[in-house]
Amino acid sequence: MLSFSEALSAGTAGAAPALEWLVPLLDAKGGDETKLLAAADKLREKTLGNSVHLRGLIEFSNFCRKNCHYCGLRAANKKIKRYRLSKAEILATALKAEKLGYKTVVLQSGEDLYFSSEVMSEIIVELKNKTKLAVTLSLGERDEATYLAWRKAGADRYLLRIETTDRRVFREIHPDSDLEYRKNCLYTLKKLGYQLGSGVMAGLPGQDSTSLAKDIIWLHELGVEMAGIGPFLPHKETPLKDEKGGSLSQALRLIAVLRLVFPYAHMPATTAMGTIDPLGREKALEAGANVMMPNITPTEVRPYYEIYPNKICLDENADKCFGCVTARIIGLGRTVGTDYGHVIRKNSGIKEPNSR
Ligand code: 5AD
Ligand code: SF4
Ligand code: FES
Repeated sequence: MLSFSEALSAGTAGAAPALEWLVPLLDAKGGDETKLLAAADKLREKTLGNSVHLRGLIEFSNFCRKNCHYCGLRAANKKIKRYRLSKAEILATALKAEKLGYKTVVLQSGEDLYFSSEVMSEIIVELKNKTKLAVTLSLGERDEATYLAWRKAGADRYLLRIETTDRRVFREIHPDSDLEYRKNCLYTLKKLGYQLGSGVMAGLPGQDSTSLAKDIIWLHELGVEMAGIGPFLPHKETPLKDEKGGSLSQALRLIAVLRLVFPYAHMPATTAMGTIDPLGREKALEAGANVMMPNITPTEVRPYYEIYPNKICLDENADKCFGCVTARIIGLGRTVGTDYGHVIRKNSGIKEPNSR
């Protein structure tokens, strides 16, 4: 292992991701930790500037066929009320978001097969016809034909976190998912030309800095263009209810290290960061992040999308959250992005591809 200073030099010089420098950075403490976050913040400013891109998040169904051990939406949780927004409600939410100034909507749900290849394709086509929005999907694992249909319908981006690449940890918390299958979903999405996002949870039971470093190496091999991370927050209606959960500082170090490894990737200051600390999203934006994903889900159903407890903004509406995040961004001396904030593909020279 390198010393912290050697590791930081390697990271800021753009060294290929390797355990010898990733682990000391992920373990940084005190003054070293401060230096790491500052280095990531500086690199973000150099590569991506000061704008923060907003993505409006529509949580349109909390039905899920799976039973991930950490998640409150797991099928076995009978204590939450399940809901599905209709196509008309999803479209109305997106139209409102566009009026507010959003350039992207993220359609997210549990793994709800009601939203089949066909049903979802219709929604995407109509969204693309009625708005100029970029469309990101976050709908979990599906087969290649379905991913292809949605891409053809006009979806621009896909988010699918790998959660962890540690075979043992993955198996332990995913009773009905397979690591190789999930990796294959990501390879397929990439092949189909989606702007690709993945990421991990920090602080899962059995995870350590070495396993997080290996996750980063794998994400680099995959070639992710967006990287989303947040602390694991234990939910009382799940098998992991008595676990400790992740910490803010570990999540911040992970964001910072990811920024060094992916100088141009889009990285959100996630809602989980805002849940673990009232200023968690601001801290993430000052540790390498450059995206925010305000909730635009209709207020009436927000409380039921409880993937983890104490989620912020449950009583708010889209206007309020838009105003709130805008003020937070300006408060940091940053600006709200005015373009699509598509991924930057350095090698292909694509900066702002048309959204369709
Ligand atoms: N704590 C933190 N994040 C969670 N997610 C699901 N459950 C939890 C939890 N209890 C994250 C997963 C998933 C994303 C949508 O939410 O990483 O990919
Ligand atoms: Fe379902 Fe996703 Fe929650 Fe797993 S993490 S139970 S797939 S909503
Ligand atoms: Fe919803 Fe602050 S982001 S009120």
